[in-house]
Amino acid sequence: MQDLKRRTFFKLGLAGAALSIFKPSKAAELIEESANIKRMAFRPTVVSTWEHGIAANEGAWKILSANGKALDAVEAGVRVTESDLTNRSVGAGGRPDAEGHVTLDACIMDEESRCGAVAYLEGIGHPISVARAVMEKTPHVMLVGEGARDFALDQGFEKVKTPLKEVKKDWKEWKKEKKQEQSRINNENHDTIGMLALDQFGNLSGACTTSGWAYKMPGRVGDSPIIGAGLFVDNEIGAACATGMGEAIIRIAGSHTVVELMRQGHSPQIACELAVDRIIKKHKDLTNLQVGFVALNKSGDYGAYSVYKGFNVAVNRDEVGKLEDAGYVKEWE
Ligand code: GLY
Repeated sequence: MQDLKRRTFFKLGLAGAALSIFKPSKAAELIEESANIKRMAFRPTVVSTWEHGIAANEGAWKILSANGKALDAVEAGVRVTESDLTNRSVGAGGRPDAEGHVTLDACIMDEESRCGAVAYLEGIGHPISVARAVMEKTPHVMLVGEGARDFALDQGFEKVKTPLKEVKKDWKEWKKEKKQEQSRINNENHDTIGMLALDQFGNLSGACTTSGWAYKMPGRVGDSPIIGAGLFVDNEIGAACATGMGEAIIRIAGSHTVVELMRQGHSPQIACELAVDRIIKKHKDLTNLQVGFVALNKSGDYGAYSVYKGFNVAVNRDEVGKLEDAGYVKEWE
């Protein structure tokens, strides 16, 4: 990498001098070549939570592989999951709260530490894009509930009808018993999609979107739309996102904690492990308390770790996509 950087400097110097010597087309060629060398210094990478990340990463990779920006990649990537109406934990196909309302949470953050979020948003299919609009078109970071919905409609986002028929049927069944407990979050029953990307320009961005805890109390908001909890990006250091029981993640400002641990010199993997340790130390009862973290640094190194077995991450780099099992502390009993 050092050699490449030195060569980049040398070439850029030559390109500048060449401007006055070569014809415009040659100068343009040299500038393009210099830009290509600069881009090669970084290794585009996208990582995301759970197996639904495989399809989402493909959406993100289309952008990254066409020299696109990490911010555009993460938005496009998680929109794939939001569009999947068979997904019961993200987007309009998600499960409702205890009163039958599907309320969606999302946030997005870019390399300039700009961020936007929506929480408790009902009847809009792509909360991540509304979060981006909050970031880009308002002086605020987060809009919630009716305010978020009014803003989305003003911005031209389409309404969607929720819950879906089959989801409503399940909710009616649940209502008979009203068990207000967190179901086991594992491979079959996962939640949030969190996605982190590094682009060819060396910039990091992240996105996070969910319908939250199934049959939650009306008004409940988890970690996913909270910058520092469900997602955090610091372009000097790295990025992190979280999945699992939002209440536990918020308690330790989870994603911010992971990034700060990387700032202290830890690798993405060790940073995730230390954050999971902290979750465990802060909770006496770990029943169904699944939390997973994913981290990515400026070099394209990534890591993932969870409290319980079963968490996995989708990884795309160099055109190859794969699903990797994360390390964990405990087996399910
Ligand atoms: N991690 C998603 C939630 O707790 O809502």
